[in-house]
Amino acid sequence: MNRPAPSRPMNVSPVRIGIVGAGIAGERHAEAFAARADATVTAVSELDPDRGHAFARRFGAVHYVDYRDMLAEPIDAVVVAVPHALHRACVLEAAAAGVHLLLEKPLATTLDDAHAMLGAVERAGVRLMLGYVHRFRPETEAARSLIAQGRLGRPATALDRFMSGGMAETPRWVWNRADAGGGVIMYGGVHAIDRLRWLLDDEVAEVYARLATYSNPADVEDGVSAVLTFAGGAMAVLSENAPGYGRLGGWVTEIFGSEGALTLTTGTALEYRGRDGAHRWTYGPDHRFERQAAEFIAALKEDRPPSVTGDDGLRGLEVALALYRSAATGRPERVDRGSAGWHEAGR
Ligand SMILES: NC(=O)c1ccc[n+]([C@@H]2O[C@H](COP(=O)([O-])OP(=O)(O)OC[C@H]3O[C@@H](n4cnc5c(N)ncnc54)[C@H](O)[C@@H]3O)[C@@H](O)[C@H]2O)c1
Repeated sequence: MNRPAPSRPMNVSPVRIGIVGAGIAGERHAEAFAARADATVTAVSELDPDRGHAFARRFGAVHYVDYRDMLAEPIDAVVVAVPHALHRACVLEAAAAGVHLLLEKPLATTLDDAHAMLGAVERAGVRLMLGYVHRFRPETEAARSLIAQGRLGRPATALDRFMSGGMAETPRWVWNRADAGGGVIMYGGVHAIDRLRWLLDDEVAEVYARLATYSNPADVEDGVSAVLTFAGGAMAVLSENAPGYGRLGGWVTEIFGSEGALTLTTGTALEYRGRDGAHRWTYGPDHRFERQAAEFIAALKEDRPPSVTGDDGLRGLEVALALYRSAATGRPERVDRGSAGWHEAGR
């Protein structure tokens, strides 16, 4: 199991991928890697034997029940797509085996776990990419570039209305604190937090949040209303819901700045209005998992950090945990940055 860190740049082609967790996300990742000529899905680890066998047959992979057995085989990278509380153990084992990681969000459920994971990755010299797949949507990229070009001037206020599926549409463990570490914030909200960070190219400094559990028989929140204040002064209102009876509407982000504003309707449209005119772009089906896989493979081959790092995972987790803290204290809470050293790690 204790193989040395792989020699770099990665010169194995195709890159041998193992999938940990053959569920909703694991399947999307496997499809994306299997479609590439420079990657191959060689192994899957899945506790449910029927699901694991079907998955292995479909992708021509070998099925393992225990991911540690899979890590003892010759694979170059794993996709970790299991319940959140298991992320720590999978990452520690994979790093010890010298295997690169594409890890689903959130990075972890606690800061202790997050630090242990990033430390292990750093020491092992493996790459870790966080699965913030929505960065790979073309409309999100277009919005980011409008902001970077200064078309909005100084961003001042934002509104993000995000929805996850509730219990009827998502696995049961998502609504169990011990497995998921939280509810709608941990499953879907970390995407919204990351997207705001990425769009504004800024870090959340302080949050104020209220939580509700109103529609799912769960021990975690299925609704959150929050205000996020960024270090650069912009503020965002976050409204996230995961009703048990199904979703209403889509994921919409509005950002207003001194010179212009945009409305991002995820998967559908980007609208801009500013002092220099107005425009609306429309979008069809995207290839976000394929583009994410392409970036992961490119980072391994080019021996560079992927565009989405463990540090991005840590920053998102810090904000999520600050939201929970604020809901508990009833006060605004600063975002805990006790770990700023990781910013330099870039892995
Ligand atoms: N980026 C996205 O769009 C997106 C979408 C859905 C889920 N996710 C994330 O992906 C991860 C998995 O979520 P999901 O919705 O696919 O869950 P899921 O329940 O559909 O799949 C998880 C799978 O892991 C298996 N599993 C559990 N413990 C295991 C273990 N020790 N070893 C091997 N397999 C094990 C389960 O049997 C299940 O098949 C989570 O981190 C979640 O937040 C991301």
